[in-house]
Amino acid sequence: MAANAAAAIARLGGEAVFWGPIGEDAVADAIRARLIADGVDVRGLRRFDGRTSSHSAVIVDESGERLVVGYRGSALQAPADWLPLDRIALAGALLADVRWPDGAWRALCAARDAGIPAILDAEIAAVEILAKLTRAADHVIFSERGLAAYSGGDSEGALRKVLTGGALMAAVTRGAHGVRWLEAAAPGEVMHCPAFAVDTVDTLAAGDVFHGAYALALAEGRGIGNAVRFAAAAAAIKCSRPGGRSGAPTRGEVEAFLASRKDGTGDIALRT
Ligand SMILES: Nc1ncnc2c1ncn2[C@@H]1O[C@H](COP(=O)(O)OP(=O)(O)O)[C@@H](O)[C@H]1O
Ligand SMILES: [Mg+2]
Repeated sequence: MAANAAAAIARLGGEAVFWGPIGEDAVADAIRARLIADGVDVRGLRRFDGRTSSHSAVIVDESGERLVVGYRGSALQAPADWLPLDRIALAGALLADVRWPDGAWRALCAARDAGIPAILDAEIAAVEILAKLTRAADHVIFSERGLAAYSGGDSEGALRKVLTGGALMAAVTRGAHGVRWLEAAAPGEVMHCPAFAVDTVDTLAAGDVFHGAYALALAEGRGIGNAVRFAAAAAAIKCSRPGGRSGAPTRGEVEAFLASRKDGTGDIALRT
């Protein structure tokens, strides 16, 4: 997820640096080559001998919805004590996903200490992992599956609990139903950004593009609502095209798209 987000950031014109473990296999070579081709800095992509790399098989149906069958591999259990955490202070934002919990936790804590936005892509994972990582992040953005794994039920209550744990915002992306979120600055309001209506071809990596664009927008100094709208536009464009991160848009494409949607589709609504 974070690798797709890094590629989406590079496509949007940002500088993306990826940190993570790969194994000793052909998949590792492909991961490295693809990230380089996508313009991502891979000096923090570390190979672990004797381990296997994470990869997935993806099936997309005729309405654009997808089924992902993941193979986690043993590289994601590799240690994270080698991360150059002092470099995080040079970044504009840090985005972590949940698949390498030790690395994510160290990086989120370092980002928070350095005073840069610490963002978590809270996808489906063991509840203990989600509990630990959500407490280390300032911006926690769940998928619906991730939120269900974290809370089991009451989604608004679960988002509120994340704010109580110290986050500035807690969100859930809901595919074509848009994004709902709470902010610590106004905890009584539920914010909502509808999904932009597009002819959906393939929703693969929509969430990853969303998270990457959101991180880039924060790094560029946008506020939360503005960053959500930018991210929703980038993700919607991705859904109108086939492929995973190869369908991620450029900055110019997002700007043209937003200019063409001044009619209000996708505008942020506020419910109290
Ligand atoms: N069919 C769609 N049409 C327009 N935007 C979409 C569509 N699916 C997803 N998006 C956008 O991408 C965001 C993330 O998608 P979602 O499916 O919730 O994440 P994930 O890919 O992690 O499951 C949504 O909140 C929405 O803004
Ligand atoms: Mg996701």
